[in-house]
Amino acid sequence: MVKNIKLLLSEVVFLSVVSFTLVSCGGVAEESTESDAEENIFSVDQVLEMVSKENDVTRTLYTKAIVGQGKLQGMKFDEDWQKDDVEAGPLPALFLRGVATSIRRSPVPLGLYLGSDYPVNSANKFQGKQAELFEKIKENQDPQYFYDEEQKVHTAMFADLASAGACVSCHNAHPQTPKTDWKLGDVMGATTWQYPKDSLSYGETIAVLNSYAKGTIDIYMQYLDEIENFKNSEKPIIGDKWPAEGNYVPTAEVFLDSVRKLASYETMNKLMAAK
Ligand code: HEC
Repeated sequence: MVKNIKLLLSEVVFLSVVSFTLVSCGGVAEESTESDAEENIFSVDQVLEMVSKENDVTRTLYTKAIVGQGKLQGMKFDEDWQKDDVEAGPLPALFLRGVATSIRRSPVPLGLYLGSDYPVNSANKFQGKQAELFEKIKENQDPQYFYDEEQKVHTAMFADLASAGACVSCHNAHPQTPKTDWKLGDVMGATTWQYPKDSLSYGETIAVLNSYAKGTIDIYMQYLDEIENFKNSEKPIIGDKWPAEGNYVPTAEVFLDSVRKLASYETMNKLMAAK
């Protein structure tokens, strides 16, 4: 397992982002000196926007292709998925929380939080400035950026949309929901991202993207471990197939490969444009 994770990480992040940049830019990257690499070339807002795009794709893919399709195959996803007697995968929000937990344990000072004004879990209710700015996000869905004086972090908030029928039906039916009329396309919440510095070097930017990718791998691997330990439920076959094809779930590598195909192109373009 450990070896797998390392392999995946180096592939996902190093090969896809860094080498792609080196190969495509050819001499340019080689000519750049170390001090160039230390220069701060991205504003914190740009970097948080990049990682937020990666997150959108990861989250939508997980929600639609794993949870949505998996449920059609009879697979279970549960908020108590980590309890010993529950044999299920993580709900999308808990997948995101898994990513956030992994990032928090990493040396990268990146914060990630998913909140709402009508949360299923009251701990996810926006407070103070974030609650204020969330009102604006609901009006026009534009991201909001501010400096949080109290926590001393630059903060960016991005709309979290009801992008799949599963978001709406599950939230509306949840016993703890304070709101039962969510519709497809609604702004259900926002992802809040935080970082202490106002600008980042190329290396720091890659580190932020790496910590997100590693977070995805960590929580996805926990999900696969959970499946391996099923005692009473039918185990989906872990391989190169997806739930849409039957009782299958993709390996972490296959899952991340799709994320990368869908998300990284835009991110890579930004990284390369800045070089
Ligand atoms: C199968 C049920 C289910 C599905 C599907 C689902 N959610 Fe949730 N969602 C939950 C639960 C339960 C929580 C609370 C998790 C926790 O304890 O933090 C939650 C949390 C959230 C939160 C944080 C605020 C809150 O309500 O606690 C947002 C925002 C959110 N979900 C949006 C979405 C969106 C958007 C989708 C689809 C892309 C989605 N959810 C899909 C059950 C679901």
